[in-house]
Amino acid sequence: MSSAERAARILPELEPKDLRVLQAMELGMMSSEYVPIDQIVKYANLNPREVKFRISALNRRELLYGQPGPYAGYILNYAGYDCLALNALVKADVLEALGRSLGVGKESDVYEALTPGGERVAVKFHRLGRTSFRETRRKRGYVSGKGRISWIYQSRLAAEREFEALRLVYQAGVSSPEPLHRNRHVLVMSYIDGYNLVDVDDLDDPEGFLDDILQNVRRALSAGVIHTDLSEYNIVVQADGEVLLIDWPQFVHRDHPNAEMLLRRDVGNVLRYFRRKFGVERSLEEALDFVRRTD
Ligand SMILES: Nc1ncnc2c1ncn2[C@@H]1O[C@H](COP(=O)(O)OP(=O)(O)OP(=O)(O)O)[C@@H](O)[C@H]1O
Ligand SMILES: [Mg+2]
Repeated sequence: MSSAERAARILPELEPKDLRVLQAMELGMMSSEYVPIDQIVKYANLNPREVKFRISALNRRELLYGQPGPYAGYILNYAGYDCLALNALVKADVLEALGRSLGVGKESDVYEALTPGGERVAVKFHRLGRTSFRETRRKRGYVSGKGRISWIYQSRLAAEREFEALRLVYQAGVSSPEPLHRNRHVLVMSYIDGYNLVDVDDLDDPEGFLDDILQNVRRALSAGVIHTDLSEYNIVVQADGEVLLIDWPQFVHRDHPNAEMLLRRDVGNVLRYFRRKFGVERSLEEALDFVRRTD
């Protein structure tokens, strides 16, 4: 069972004081890797015996890790952090129940979920500590130069960035999921039925579909946003044949120093895929001229 599924299952059994302890650990992890018990006591504002009792129960439920020895302390794991985010989203009447998995990516888990009103939504849990820190830093410019950054911070930042990108591009009319809510590392967006382009062997009109992709890249650019990870894995063919662009946490603004190179790479990736898979020939310079046009 994934950590999100475990969190969703355990959450209804947690008491407000358990959540206070988890929250105190979250706060402590901003300044230390392993949070000492006296710090948890202070932040949770509960008596030490109560805190110890709650910690051992949370430990048994595998929501945290403990480290013995002279630097003894506790650290939340993903399931513990997922509990905090899911609890906030349930309290805010955003989510009611977590459903089946929609995709496990390199750096996220995506699930279907239901709102209290019975609407189907998609919930993306960002998971940036999963790969090595060096790896993440290499790929994600926005954590560079800050030294050691916890997976909690990295994952929350990725969700914030993706929410911001979706807000900008969705408003500009780009075909993308609608951003609905965010708490910590968890993003809630509209659910979209479709297949990733990489899994689609036949398109009715590959030329037209490519035009639609470029049209959306152009709209995003007009909103100042470059995707930077555009590929057949992040393009969805919706049930009605419409295109959809997903997975935006690594976007850059149009005025980023490498914007031109990143835009060229995005468009180049798409053209290469359409050439190889569907035999569609399109010049890169022409496609770039089109997406940069502002009229
Ligand atoms: N709004 C949505 N509705 C339905 N399914 C979705 C939605 N968003 C994502 N998915 C599914 O979940 C999968 C993973 O999502 P996404 O591409 O955003 O993350 P990722 O690939 O983990 O990110 P990364 O590229 O950082 O590893 C997608 O390939 C898609 O199948
Ligand atoms: Mg993806």
